Amino acid sequence: MILPPQTVLFIVATSNVASSQSLVPIQTPIARPPDFNPVTVPGSVAAAGASVFKSFVSFSIELAFFPDFAGNSSSPNTFSDTLLENLKAFQGSKPDIRVGGNTQDYAVFDSSLTTATSGTYIPSISDDYPRILTIGPSFFESYQTWADVLFIHGFNLATNSTSASESLNQSVPYACNALSKNNLLTWEMGNEPDLYKTSAQGIVRPASWSEVDYVKEWKDKVATIKDMLGNACGEDWVSAQKFKWTAPSFAGTNNSLDTVEAWKAGLGSDGDISLFSSHNYIGGATQPGITLGNTLLNHTKTVLSIAAHNAEQKALSAAGMTLPYILGETNSLYNQGAPGLSNSFGAALWGVDFNLMCAATDIQQVFMHQGTDYRYASWQPISTSKTNMGTKPPYYGNIAVAAALGNITNSTTTRVQNIPLSNSDTESAYAIYSDSKLARLMVINLNEYNYSLSAQRPEMAYNFTLPVSCAGHGLVQRLMANGSDATTGITFNGWTYNYDVAKGEPKLSGNVTRDEIVWVGEDGGVAVPVPWSSAALVQLTC
Ligand SMILES: *[C@@H]1O[C@H](CO)[C@@H](O)[C@H](O)[C@H]1NC(C)=O
Ligand SMILES: *[C@@H]1O[C@H](CO)[C@@H](O)[C@H](O)[C@H]1NC(C)=O
Ligand SMILES: *[C@@H]1O[C@H](CO)[C@@H](O)[C@H](O)[C@H]1NC(C)=O
Ligand SMILES: *[C@@H]1O[C@H](CO)[C@@H](O)[C@H](O)[C@H]1NC(C)=O
Ligand SMILES: *[C@@H]1O[C@H](CO)[C@@H](O)[C@H](O)[C@H]1NC(C)=O
Ligand SMILES: *[C@@H]1O[C@H](CO)[C@@H](O)[C@H](O)[C@H]1NC(C)=O
Ligand SMILES: *[C@@H]1O[C@H](CO)[C@@H](O)[C@H](O)[C@H]1NC(C)=O
Ligand SMILES: *[C@@H]1O[C@H](CO)[C@@H](O)[C@H](O)[C@H]1NC(C)=O
Ligand SMILES: *[C@@H]1O[C@H](CO)[C@@H](O)[C@H](O)[C@H]1NC(C)=O
Ligand SMILES: *[C@@H]1O[C@H](CO)[C@@H](O)[C@H](O)[C@H]1NC(C)=O
Repeated sequence: MILPPQTVLFIVATSNVASSQSLVPIQTPIARPPDFNPVTVPGSVAAAGASVFKSFVSFSIELAFFPDFAGNSSSPNTFSDTLLENLKAFQGSKPDIRVGGNTQDYAVFDSSLTTATSGTYIPSISDDYPRILTIGPSFFESYQTWADVLFIHGFNLATNSTSASESLNQSVPYACNALSKNNLLTWEMGNEPDLYKTSAQGIVRPASWSEVDYVKEWKDKVATIKDMLGNACGEDWVSAQKFKWTAPSFAGTNNSLDTVEAWKAGLGSDGDISLFSSHNYIGGATQPGITLGNTLLNHTKTVLSIAAHNAEQKALSAAGMTLPYILGETNSLYNQGAPGLSNSFGAALWGVDFNLMCAATDIQQVFMHQGTDYRYASWQPISTSKTNMGTKPPYYGNIAVAAALGNITNSTTTRVQNIPLSNSDTESAYAIYSDSKLARLMVINLNEYNYSLSAQRPEMAYNFTLPVSCAGHGLVQRLMANGSDATTGITFNGWTYNYDVAKGEPKLSGNVTRDEIVWVGEDGGVAVPVPWSSAALVQLTC
């Protein structure tokens, strides 16, 4: 702990949370130094984002790899489940899981397939996922392996041959049976249709294909699914309450279809969409000029990237769209991430900044995209020739976001407000309000610190004025690693979730300080020391 000079006014006997409760300040702070320059954290939520959904921290899993992540009835993936449970221990609910992505629009169902999936990779298109994919009945077993998880199942919209339509029909009974354990969040029809005319992975619609054409195809297929659901699983499946869709799942805000036009063309007119979903990536894995420092550890870039969604939401709202706006698929760099960037501790810090900035701007839920061997994945669910099974750095970012939000189910509203700091590229702060009361403060120091360069690690004291009701002490819980380039040795408040330590169960790492005390003066002043390339969550009692 570091206190500003002249303000070391308290006896700090311990940094252990249990015994800290009995500590009392022996003196109230006197004048702060002239360069204290505190940033005010408002006591009121007026400028905070809309209340987040109870599973704000959620995941999207590439459909072809869902069996790797979840396992099947005879061989459930308990490592993945442990990682989901860890998030529940913070945010109060397990993540929702969207099963979709590019391979959702390649998948063709074959009732005679004896394996869950059968895929063919076309290296000229991608080494990362199969461009040709068949799924069989046992694919749907993967919806049974995790308790208390709600799923979005993605259907194929892109492949529109007669045989593909037959296969889509045949898959419906398997899907509704698998999702009949109160584990359906919504359905989804098609992935990123705004790229159907332009995709590098294959063009599947003519240049003339319009928003009107899209909406017609979407509605035709959704109507087909409705018929099949009613026949196969019962009339309650087509009730207004249960027949719900996530849409339109566009890749971005400025591709070859426009969401406002799609909305005007009647996408939502039947009232069967419950979540308005868009996708986002900060940049591309192989785009020139992409680095950790310029791109991911850059709050300005993150803000600009999210602002496009904020603008889209405004435009949609002007067109009468009132649904919650979510990011149904997102991560750092598209094309599955860049090695050394997306799988580093720096990417974990980016994830914290990105997710909290979304929450601060009315994006009510964020599904981080996952796939086997993906460079940006939060975890590798099985061992392959490319990647060892294990918890990856971005997961620690997911944990830190969940910890920042706290137990969302325990309050009526959980809202996040961005607190602008003076260096907008390299630092950011967020206030988290539970039922309108300030509960936590997250400070992220995004300055790149490469520990492989062996330089001294700089630290910055971030000074705030909190509401005076917060006077007393706060507990600092750090998202920490040796540097932004670290890929191992990451902890949140001293906890490790590594597979090789305890199969993903939380374990305390003995050499990391946790629950450090910071004193909040009677004037609400607090100094939070944050080393470069790390984040500090301050738990407050206000
Ligand atoms: C926080 O206050 C200390 C003095 O107590 C000062 O040195 C430091 O620069 C301040 N931090 C910021 C970000 O202004
Ligand atoms: C979250 O809050 C709910 C409601 O008070 C409670 O039932 C649940 O046990 C809490 N979960 C955690 C992980 O603390
Ligand atoms: C279930 O998963 C195990 C382990 O991956 C695999 O060996 C088995 O074939 C799978 N069962 C089915 C029906 O796909
Ligand atoms: C598939 O979509 C294309 C482009 O919209 C269209 O020309 C074609 O008729 C469709 N095929 C079927 C079987 O619906
Ligand atoms: C799929 O099911 C729908 C609704 O029952 C039906 O109208 C359509 O003809 C079926 N399509 C195929 C290709 O069998
Ligand atoms: C949208 O894309 C076009 C060209 O693809 C570009 O000229 C324009 O600046 C983009 N608009 C925004 C708001 O990004
Ligand atoms: C961060 O991103 C902004 C917006 O793209 C850019 O202007 C700025 O130069 C970037 N900062 C660094 C350090 O690269
Ligand atoms: C940090 O390390 C990476 C990889 O070794 C290197 O590309 C980058 O330039 C380094 N950054 C700084 C600021 O030295
Ligand atoms: C982190 O740094 C410490 C101290 O230099 C070193 O002992 C430890 O091995 C490093 N951890 C990793 C994962 O590199
Ligand atoms: C703490 O200990 C763990 C396991 O012994 C090691 O992997 C990690 O690098 C250490 N961290 C630091 C900061 O020394």
